[in-house]
Amino acid sequence: MKKVTVTIFLFGILISCFMFLSGFSPSELTGEISKKSIPTDPGNELKQQAFEILKTKCNVCHRKQNPFKIFSLRNMNKHAPKIKEQVFIKKRMPKGDKIRLTAEEYQTLKNWLSTL
Ligand code: HEC
Repeated sequence: MKKVTVTIFLFGILISCFMFLSGFSPSELTGEISKKSIPTDPGNELKQQAFEILKTKCNVCHRKQNPFKIFSLRNMNKHAPKIKEQVFIKKRMPKGDKIRLTAEEYQTLKNWLSTL
């Protein structure tokens, strides 16, 4: 009985070592996360920049109307035609005089829309 217990115990240690060596090391874990949060794809980078504009120049106001109807990285592609219409064709957005987009921000949005 005692021999069996020792064998199981040693086997457990062996498995732990194996798991640790084969990809449970923290450095690999953080490496994986940073790879995901900093996309290297230039299209994604542009989208990120466009999202920053939507977040700081559009969501700040839309949030007051309806907190559930704000632009996010997930829904911005879906809303792209509306954004294009409101910002570039009808020029209704950003609404009012307080919030303005710089020429650079217009260009970033335009570049992002052209990648879709
Ligand atoms: C100062 C407030 C304010 C800012 C800033 C603002 N919006 Fe709006 N937006 C509104 C309001 C209010 C509505 C809903 C009523 C309307 O359509 O005028 C709206 C509606 C919209 C709609 C829906 C229009 C439709 O056809 O139903 C889109 C798309 C939109 N905004 C895009 C933008 C974008 C893109 C920006 C940033 C570049 C922006 N808005 C900035 C106030 C704002």
